[in-house]
Amino acid sequence: MITGGARHLGYDGACVLAGAGADLVITSRTKSSAEETASKLRQTYGVDVLSLELDQSSHGGVQAAVELAQAWKGRLDILLNNAGGGSGKSVAFLFDRDPRDIDSMINVNLTGVIYCCREVGRIMQRQGRGKIINIASIAALLGRDRRMYEKHKMMGQPVDYAAAKAGVLGLTRDLAALLAPSGVYVNAISPGGFARGDLPESFIDDFADGTALGRMGRDGIDLKGAILFLASPASDYVVGHNLVVDGGFEMWH
Ligand SMILES: NC(=O)c1ccc[n+]([C@@H]2O[C@H](COP(=O)([O-])OP(=O)(O)OC[C@H]3O[C@@H](n4cnc5c(N)ncnc54)[C@H](O)[C@@H]3O)[C@@H](O)[C@H]2O)c1
Repeated sequence: MITGGARHLGYDGACVLAGAGADLVITSRTKSSAEETASKLRQTYGVDVLSLELDQSSHGGVQAAVELAQAWKGRLDILLNNAGGGSGKSVAFLFDRDPRDIDSMINVNLTGVIYCCREVGRIMQRQGRGKIINIASIAALLGRDRRMYEKHKMMGQPVDYAAAKAGVLGLTRDLAALLAPSGVYVNAISPGGFARGDLPESFIDDFADGTALGRMGRDGIDLKGAILFLASPASDYVVGHNLVVDGGFEMWH
C-alpha cells in the first residue's frame, strides 16, 4: 500500500515495487488520479492495482481505506507512507503563517502517518510480518539556509514541516521498537531535494552546488533502490533506521 502513489516519489515507489512483482494499493486524494496511475501500472507491469481515494488527515478516511486495502487480497505486506509535502501555496514564514496552515501541515505529515501506521500496523502484527517505510526528509535533520530561497524569490519551507518530519523519525524509531518483536519492520527514508520542473533553474544549480554529488535527486531514479531495499527481505536485519538519500547534502551541512 502506497499513500500518495499517483505521482512523483510515491509513483516511483509504485513502479519499483510493481517491477519486483508486488500487487499494489495506491491512494490519492482524488480517486480519478489514483485510478489513472493504477491503469498505467497495470499495463506496464502486469500486476493487480487497487486505486483508493484517501485524505489521511481524517482517521475515519484512513480506517475505511485500510479496510478496503486489506480485504482486497486478504493481507498487507508493505506500507509506504509517502503522502505529505512542504509548504504548498501557504505563507511559510512562521510569524506570518496562518495557524490553520500549521495544524494542517502537522495533520497531513505526522498525524496522518501515525493513523496509517496504526491501522496497517495492527494488521501486520496479526499477520506476524510486514514492512513499514515512512518517508521523512532531510528537513528533519537540518536547519534550512533561507537565504537561498529568498535569493530565488521562493516560498521556502515552514518550520512546522521540519517539525512534522522530525516527528516521523521519532515515530519510526519507537514504532520499530514496538513492532519488531512481532516481525514487523519499521524504517524511514529521508530524501534530499528532488529537481522538479516548477523549480527555478538557478535554484536547482545552487542546490546542486551544496550537494556532494553535485546534483539534486532525479524522479524516476534516485529513490527507487532505497524503497526496494527496505521493502524486501534484503533489509531483514535493518530496523528503526533512517536511510538518508540526498546525494550527500546533509553530510556537507
Ligand atoms: N520532493 C522532494 O524534494 C522531497 C524531499 C524530501 C521529502 N519529500 C517527501 O516525499 C514525499 C513525497 O513527496 P513528493 O515530492 O513526491 O510530493 P508530491 O506533492 O508530488 O506528492 C505528495 C503526495 O501526497 C499526497 N497528499 C498530500 N496531502 C495528502 C493528504 N491530506 N492525504 C493523502 N494524501 C495526501 C498528494 O496527493 C501526493 O500524491 C512527501 O512525504 C514529501 O514530504 C519530498
